[in-house]
Amino acid sequence: MAVADWLAALHRRAELRAKAGLTRRLRPRAAGDAVVDLAGNDYLGLAAHPEVTAAAGRALSAYGLGATGSRLVRGSTDAHHGLEAALADWLGVDGSLVFSSGYLANLGAVRALTRPRTLLVSDAHNHASLIDGCRISGAETVVTPHADPAAVAAALAAAPGRPAVVVTESVFSVDGDLAPLAELHAVARRHGALLLVDDAHALGVLGPAGAGGVAAAGLAGEPDVVVTATLSKALGGAGGVVAGPAEFVRHLVETGRTFIFDTALPPAVAAGVRAALDLARAGDDLRAELAGRTALAVRRLHAAGLEVSAPDAAVVSVTAPGPEAATAWAADCADRGVAVGCFRPPSTPDSRSRLRLTVNAGVGRADFERALDVIVECAP
Ligand SMILES: Cc1ncc(COP(=O)(O)O)c(C=O)c1O
Repeated sequence: MAVADWLAALHRRAELRAKAGLTRRLRPRAAGDAVVDLAGNDYLGLAAHPEVTAAAGRALSAYGLGATGSRLVRGSTDAHHGLEAALADWLGVDGSLVFSSGYLANLGAVRALTRPRTLLVSDAHNHASLIDGCRISGAETVVTPHADPAAVAAALAAAPGRPAVVVTESVFSVDGDLAPLAELHAVARRHGALLLVDDAHALGVLGPAGAGGVAAAGLAGEPDVVVTATLSKALGGAGGVVAGPAEFVRHLVETGRTFIFDTALPPAVAAGVRAALDLARAGDDLRAELAGRTALAVRRLHAAGLEVSAPDAAVVSVTAPGPEAATAWAADCADRGVAVGCFRPPSTPDSRSRLRLTVNAGVGRADFERALDVIVECAP
């Protein structure tokens, strides 16, 4: 195909997306803008906490900007190892391994859990990184209806004698609901399967001392459970983690392609996340504030006649009539100084478009309440 044809084909596809209301645009933000942020994932308001930025700044001066290599070459620093020990201790597991993103942690974990003939049983609402992990693993994958342990049991029962892994999020990123983790674990154990849980939206938010959804379900340290998470949400930084039995961590170090063939997380980020972890772990007051604000958001939006999800953590989803209406709603909120997430197909597991609010304990209380008014006033 000639270059001109290729570009014309891309243009036609962009026009089709535009017609369907699915255009995506980058909107750069200035440092310190006055926007009330209900779109980012900085649940506990730690991204710009002075102790976090100071720790990152010290490591930046000590190590320089980047890790200079992959973890197995020159990229492992004291900051990475300190963070891994602190994460394992917090999550109540044998060991943990830090990746340069949550996306890569999920790709690496799913792939590393897969052996010949493995069956993956994946929830229909799972995040794209888990879906892609299933895809690149090459393993047969059964997608089960959302949060349905009976369907998971049926899928496992249909594959007797095969290694299997049940793959789920704890708090689902789309609607903020919690997976039935205890039931899923019981089903998995009954069938000799492993359970992989992406705790991205629960780490720092749920569980004892914020140790996440797996800990909240009483499953911390179970030998047949592997936990993944991004360090970019309640911990305000970047990077990902896989946590579980020490043998599995060793397996990842020696075979995990997204760990081995990737430049390590910058040491300054590892140090900043470590400081955020200490604050999150001691942050029961922040979690109480977050839960109170989430309940307030649901009450306020519901009272205004909007269709609101029943969140188990701090993600609130509000149904929009369609993708264009969702885009216009989010844009109107942005014009009035309130950033909200806008989820439309294909980023949603069903055909529904939504505004997604991520509640943030670091936003001023009055600003938060004003933001809820703005969302109601801009509703289509
Ligand atoms: C549930 C879930 N898993 C994984 C990721 C990917 O993490 P990261 O952004 O660190 O790549 C995200 C989004 O950030 C997420 O929402």
